[in-house]
Amino acid sequence: MHDVLPDQTPAWQYVEQVLREVLSAYGYREIRLPIVEKTELFKRSIGEVTDIVEKEMYTFLDRNGDSLTLRPEGTAGCLRACLEHGLLHNQVHRLWYYGPMFRHERPQKGRYRQFYQLGVETYGIPGPDIDAEIILLSERLWRRLGVRDKLQLEINSLGSSEERKAYRRILVDYFQGHLDKLDADCLRRLDSNPLRILDSKNPEVQQVVENAPVLMDHIGDESRAHFQELTEILDALNIDYVLNTRLVRGLDYYSKTVFEWVSGDLGAQGTVCAGGRYDGLIEQLGGRENYAVGFAMGMERLLALCEAQGGLELQSGIDIYLVRVGGAAEMAGMRLAEQLREQIPGLRLQMHCGGGSFKSQFKKADKSGAAYAVIIGEDEAIRGEISIKSLRREQPQDTIPAVEAAAYFAERL
Ligand code: HAM
Repeated sequence: MHDVLPDQTPAWQYVEQVLREVLSAYGYREIRLPIVEKTELFKRSIGEVTDIVEKEMYTFLDRNGDSLTLRPEGTAGCLRACLEHGLLHNQVHRLWYYGPMFRHERPQKGRYRQFYQLGVETYGIPGPDIDAEIILLSERLWRRLGVRDKLQLEINSLGSSEERKAYRRILVDYFQGHLDKLDADCLRRLDSNPLRILDSKNPEVQQVVENAPVLMDHIGDESRAHFQELTEILDALNIDYVLNTRLVRGLDYYSKTVFEWVSGDLGAQGTVCAGGRYDGLIEQLGGRENYAVGFAMGMERLLALCEAQGGLELQSGIDIYLVRVGGAAEMAGMRLAEQLREQIPGLRLQMHCGGGSFKSQFKKADKSGAAYAVIIGEDEAIRGEISIKSLRREQPQDTIPAVEAAAYFAERL
């Protein structure tokens, strides 16, 4: 679990701001969800034989003896909340959430045990137009953040759950003929979750996977038409994608469309954003037949990508650093600081505290990144004046009456 230090928070806040702007440009609304849910919810939705449920959840008994889990992802909780509050019947929703998720994975670059996701979930829309919309929304995020070139879109269709069941049998038959090439993990999955073998990173297994039957060849007409329409929309809007027939995702609830945005610049953890359609999960969690599609994006990976791209152009956090030296000046400075904050809403003013010489206070002003230093010494305090020094531009120092300070800065900031 990592800390986000004050030098890093401006980048986080900037990206969060861009996310909010893009989400509202598409009419998505925020939902805020608990960080803890009943363990059962995740078992039923993500799937009993997935890595997440088998080995990565932070699960504990609370004081009532109920089994609770720190959310490893947001899709299950979001759907639980919407079902609980009756939001799904005959309604369309476009929602987003943001916050920490928890998975007890082996930590490495781009993989943490507490990480932040922006999640988007839509309900009530059956067609591929909404699948395309959330892909377009994510693509707009990358463009706004200047990382579009660093990401590649991979898409696939997993068909319906019946189609997948039929394919699963075909796949197991195929792997039965190559047992000697499968590692222990794959052999275990052969019974429980054979599709995940397609995802194996083991080179020997990958050779067998190369020639395995392809799910896309075994999906039905409706799934095929859905996928075809999605690709037509993406083509028409010039969104490049790669058809990756091995893309199966690590969570069990998907059907039809799945997609990932992957970067080659992030090492082993290259997937920045991933999602797909999961219509079936609604009934599985006790709702009526309905439609759902969404994605989640990992903040740490997105920020690492922005960094690799040369960083974000962030502005300093303050406009004015107020230097005050001498007994009367300290009080005058304190008053002026309050007055300016009152008069100029949004002004970011940091007042020097803790005393010290002009020289040492100036050093702090310089380091602060502020645009201006406001200086009050004994002389200024007596005369009711302030001196102003631009810290970014070569400019002669100004001295003005303190009462004109608000007008001076209102014009310049
Ligand atoms: P996921 O593929 O498990 O999907 O996670 C989505 C994204 O979260 C990943 O692509 C990655 O960027 C980030 N992520 C996952 N695990 C970690 C980790 N340990 N450290 C850092 N980042 C991580 C889901 O969570 C689904 N709920 C997505 C979804 C929403 N599908 C439909 N709606």
